[in-house]
Amino acid sequence: CFSYVIIYLHYGVCLIYASSVRTHVNVDPAKLKSLRQRWSVKPSEMSKKTLNPIRAIVDGMKLTPNPEKPMIALSIGDPTVFGNLPTDDTVLQAMKEAIDSHKYNGYAPSVGYQKSREVVADFYSCPEAPLDGKDVILTSGCSQAIELAISVLCNPGDNILVPRPGFSLYKTLAVSMGIQVKHYNLLPEKSWEIDLQHLESLIDDKTACLIVNNPSNPCGSVFSREHLHKILSVASRNCIPILADEIYGDMVFPGCDFQPLAPLSSDVPILSCGGLAKRWLVPGWRMGWILIHDRNDIFGTAIREGLVKLSQRILGPCTVVQGALESILNDTPPEFYQGTISFLKSNSEICYSELSTVPGLNPVMPSGAMYIMVGIEMEHFPDFQNDVEFTERLVTEQSVFCLPATAFEYPNFFRIVVTVPEEMMIEACIRIREFCARHYRPRSQDSHELDQ
Ligand SMILES: Cc1ncc(COP(=O)(O)O)c(C=O)c1O
Repeated sequence: CFSYVIIYLHYGVCLIYASSVRTHVNVDPAKLKSLRQRWSVKPSEMSKKTLNPIRAIVDGMKLTPNPEKPMIALSIGDPTVFGNLPTDDTVLQAMKEAIDSHKYNGYAPSVGYQKSREVVADFYSCPEAPLDGKDVILTSGCSQAIELAISVLCNPGDNILVPRPGFSLYKTLAVSMGIQVKHYNLLPEKSWEIDLQHLESLIDDKTACLIVNNPSNPCGSVFSREHLHKILSVASRNCIPILADEIYGDMVFPGCDFQPLAPLSSDVPILSCGGLAKRWLVPGWRMGWILIHDRNDIFGTAIREGLVKLSQRILGPCTVVQGALESILNDTPPEFYQGTISFLKSNSEICYSELSTVPGLNPVMPSGAMYIMVGIEMEHFPDFQNDVEFTERLVTEQSVFCLPATAFEYPNFFRIVVTVPEEMMIEACIRIREFCARHYRPRSQDSHELDQ
């Protein structure tokens, strides 16, 4: 009889050869015993260790809005949800042309088309930190860039240093890979600068990488040049490479300067992660990148080859978006970026000035990105145990949903997304004020002082 040998070639081409070898089916009785008697399909250890704290917290909350008030969600870091911040026509046109060209329907190299890599390199290259195509890896969103960067720098048992409060994905990825996470503190009273002493105290011989997120989610803070120099000094003294999450790069308010980290570095090797999601307002297009900055050849070819190998696990980002990149990066008019920034600044100012006069709340004015953090003086709100209960009841009574900052490892704060339409922001602030007035209790000492 014939037996068939099936050979899978790369990307799904499948050849079937028939051979005329006679086969005998001899079943070894010992082997029969090892066959499973019943089904037992269990989730892998990795899947069990993969935890998104935002989901874990939000799914555990009782979010039942007040039926008399329309819901206002100030929790979603997606600038497209309300339709008030469309991307630029140039960006849409670039995408349409890429589709109509019929040139971008196939597989691209796993690190992206060479031409598209060069376009990104030219966009970000500067004399102090020059880049060319080989220094760019295109990824599926900034999230995959972060995943590749952590994967290439760390082994199970190593640790990474991440900001607190900070974007939760770093921990989600690291823990699922068996990498320990050490949180370094950001200081709200210093506009969320890094507590550098604390940062340095966490470093040990297993520290594989320092993650710096600037501008910051959830703080909306932007580090000064001086502060970035100090961060680089810590990394340099301890020989720790940096993963710079700069997805909000250039999204800073007028009067404030965004300084990418790499041009300031004389020796520390840096993987800078970014993408189209925020600045170009198309998070669903899933286009991100890693910029490899290694002027002193510390990463060398080994880290570059490691990144290429890891990128081959899943073939890079959508090829149509890669085809549109040149026009998106080079032709989007400056007025588009300015328009987004002035909207974000104006909404941040409304939110900040409204909430800073609410007894019991302490908002911290941001300088960029899309967020504002608000401190809660929990001792004045005895009705609630913590920020999670506070924000849960804010939904029940006022139909306003803000993310409790416990989701960013920072209790007693909540985060507001400032991309919502202005009238919604104003209405939300009015409702938050009403909610706080209802639940605010002066401490007995305060009320005693008031009596005098
Ligand atoms: C700080 C930070 N880094 C990375 C990302 C992920 O970006 P992307 O949607 O391109 O994967 C986000 C998304 O919210 C973010 O806030």
